[in-house]
Amino acid sequence: MADGQAINPHLSGNLAPIHSEDDFDLTVAGRIPDSLHGAYYRNGPNPQFEPRGQYHAFIGDGMIHGFFLDPDSNTARYRNRWVRTPRWQAEHKAGRSLFGGMGLPSDPSVANINPGGANTNIVWHGGKLMALQEQSEPFQIDPAGMEKGVFMNTGGKFTAHPKIDPHTGELVWFAYSAGPQPLTNLIDYGVTDATGRVVRRDRFAAPFASMMHDFMVTRNYVLFPVLPLSMDMTRAMKGLPPIAWEPGKGAFVGVMKRNAGIDAIRWFEMDPNYIFHPMNAWEDGSKIHCEVMEYPSAPLFPMADGSPPQHAEAVLTRWTIDLAASTNAVKREKLDDLYAEFPRLDERFAGLPYRHGWYVANVGHRNPLIFNSIAHIDYATGKRTTLTMNPGDSVGEPIFVPRSATAPEGDGHVIVLVHRAASNHSELMILNAQDITGAPEAVLKLPRRVPAGFHGNWMPT
Ligand SMILES: [Fe+2]
Repeated sequence: MADGQAINPHLSGNLAPIHSEDDFDLTVAGRIPDSLHGAYYRNGPNPQFEPRGQYHAFIGDGMIHGFFLDPDSNTARYRNRWVRTPRWQAEHKAGRSLFGGMGLPSDPSVANINPGGANTNIVWHGGKLMALQEQSEPFQIDPAGMEKGVFMNTGGKFTAHPKIDPHTGELVWFAYSAGPQPLTNLIDYGVTDATGRVVRRDRFAAPFASMMHDFMVTRNYVLFPVLPLSMDMTRAMKGLPPIAWEPGKGAFVGVMKRNAGIDAIRWFEMDPNYIFHPMNAWEDGSKIHCEVMEYPSAPLFPMADGSPPQHAEAVLTRWTIDLAASTNAVKREKLDDLYAEFPRLDERFAGLPYRHGWYVANVGHRNPLIFNSIAHIDYATGKRTTLTMNPGDSVGEPIFVPRSATAPEGDGHVIVLVHRAASNHSELMILNAQDITGAPEAVLKLPRRVPAGFHGNWMPT
């Protein structure tokens, strides 16, 4: 690594990239549950070559880690491949990095190449497996080989965090900084029907230009959190950060009925805070509740004057918006005391009243880049259970897979990637979702580590 990057936390420890594409038969301890016929895919940044300039994990080349499970033979295969975006292909051909630290072309020969790295999420919808990164269109890849792919045409930018409506099968999505210009306050709201056809794309102006990592969708409403991680081209032209924590901008949530026009958006207000990820959102009479991982300020991004990021950690928090109230205030209450991230649920209950959630947490130590525990919260009983790994170990986003399509909410399995520090290898743990501290149902061991990444999902076969 170049000077200054040897200590970049985004490129060290288990965030450091790996440099091989492999196919492994995994060692299986225990029994792969019968309901897990299919594949778990996990996406994350893994720069192909030494990055140019200041590297941020949000812009590295995507790499997909695919785990193909066969309960009948109790066997599992692993395959990892870079997402073969135009940017990856151009750099692969050149044998070196051609894009700047923020993913922008730094070589005139690639000025017209889409800089998207498709590195953040991987979603199965409408018969398509899509690697996603915000500010870029979905990149469709072939589920088996994971080597063929193409950017889809969704009419413009997309999100890495679309929601699938469990009733309609629709994919509901948004794009911030919409339109051809960079760093705008324009937001697109879109819907793709269950067959994969884009059926709606509307544009509106937010109170200011904000980096909106994720959003919330209920059965009937969509919510846009415009939080003061601001984007400002004028500031950037002065050599200051294009994206920065700027609490003076205020914090807003736009609420819109899904079947209404964009003119119907109502803006609610709250004290400055930041979220990357909600767990879920749901309606309760005139109220909408959102359980989110709320930070007091945006981590990982500098202040508007260029000073370094503030230390900040997220705690599970409930936002309540009352559509019948005469004020536009958002009520906020902390639900937990753990520093946590990557919340998931039984997604058959996405947008609906629900009982169970799973997330990663820091128990005992406070390294914001390493989570050592998996947590399960049961909102009906208020009970929160944690499974903490050995010192130095870390866990990735836990996903839930139901035991069957008709199983009760939360009856199923949690799949989570664990990095074992002592041996520097990774394993895929399959846990009983209702008893995460019990003996794992199965542990699939890899011969090497899987770098820490972002989001993954299950694709049944
Ligand atoms: Fe995310």
